[in-house]
Amino acid sequence: ASPVLFDSHGRPLEYLRLAVTDRCNLRCFYCMPAEGIEYVPKQQLLSYEEMERLVGLLAGLGVRKVRLTGGEPFVRRDLVPFMERLSQLPGITELTLTTNGVLTAPHVPALARMGVRAVNLSLDTLDRSRFARITRRDELPRVLDTLYALLAAGIRVKINAVVMDGQNTEDLLPLAELTRELPVDVRFIEEMPFNGGSHEATAATLPWNHRRIREHLEQYFGALLPEPTRPGDTASHYAVAGHAGRLGIIAAYSRTFCGTCNRIRLTAEGSVKTCLYDQGGLDLRALLRGGASDEEVRAALRQAFYQRAANGFEAEQRRPLHQLSFESMSTIGG
Ligand code: GTP
Ligand code: 5AD
Ligand code: SF4
Repeated sequence: ASPVLFDSHGRPLEYLRLAVTDRCNLRCFYCMPAEGIEYVPKQQLLSYEEMERLVGLLAGLGVRKVRLTGGEPFVRRDLVPFMERLSQLPGITELTLTTNGVLTAPHVPALARMGVRAVNLSLDTLDRSRFARITRRDELPRVLDTLYALLAAGIRVKINAVVMDGQNTEDLLPLAELTRELPVDVRFIEEMPFNGGSHEATAATLPWNHRRIREHLEQYFGALLPEPTRPGDTASHYAVAGHAGRLGIIAAYSRTFCGTCNRIRLTAEGSVKTCLYDQGGLDLRALLRGGASDEEVRAALRQAFYQRAANGFEAEQRRPLHQLSFESMSTIGG
């Protein structure tokens, strides 16, 4: 494997989050408005060939883990053959994805065959009517099919549940209860303001922060036992005595992971985000379509990563309200 690249603050580049589309078949209200967001025209999306080239170059810079995101990855046609090619790239030892599970179940055997060992599944409630209200689509049964298909195939599952005041707080305990019998991680996420302008949410209006989530869980399950974390982890994980799975809390909005952040993002349009809060970014699509050589693309990537912000989160917190990013998570890639 290639040696790992470090940025000017000593953080390694190990993990690529690759958004394969900005489209989604759900309309989660914390992510986008009911009418959806304005999608990027198809020619402006990176092609699979372009993405494959970039992942190969990033593997050459030391990236080992690739997570496909979106939008919803399975909304893009022919995702599976593309993943098969990625799974064969030298240096990529961990290929995974974050999915909403609506279209995923039929592809689970193919995922297992190509060596995908873990999948993150977005699921905010086990109640069908609340699911339909939050996502604006009545698709809970298909998401549950995906959950059980993944487990049956021996693929590790992390459930991501965004905690929303007044929307799904009654769902926290039923979701957490899944860990009693099933070997899953159930991770509760603080809501971030990346909602595509669907409603107002700022740090100041975040009633369910990580502390409150933990207290709520502990009232029911007793003391949560913290498990060790690795640098770059977003979640704190907790064991519950006697449970097959674990609980997790992602303090996405009240804490910073910047100090050990090991990731970069590539949007579906081919721009590099060296931080979740990065509002500009290197335009790789222009570079590729302008005929840049491998060495030129590598040099641009090296430079963008080297120069990345020490702490994008703090910079975001200092920005005045009207300058905050209300981009949709669906275009950022999560
Ligand atoms: P693992 O690789 O399994 O640890 O997953 P992950 O947490 O890196 O990715 P996932 O796609 O499951 O994202 C879970 C939540 O963490 C989402 O709400 C993401 O937006 C959020 N998240 C992911 N990366 C970052 C980050 O760099 N900063 C912050 N603040 N939140 C992030
Ligand atoms: N705040 C926190 N998490 C969010 N996600 C999408 N929008 C938000 C938001 N506004 C989560 C999804 C998915 C992950 C990639 O990001 O639920 O699990
Ligand atoms: Fe789609 Fe995920 Fe956004 Fe929901 S949160 S609308 S599933 S991209």
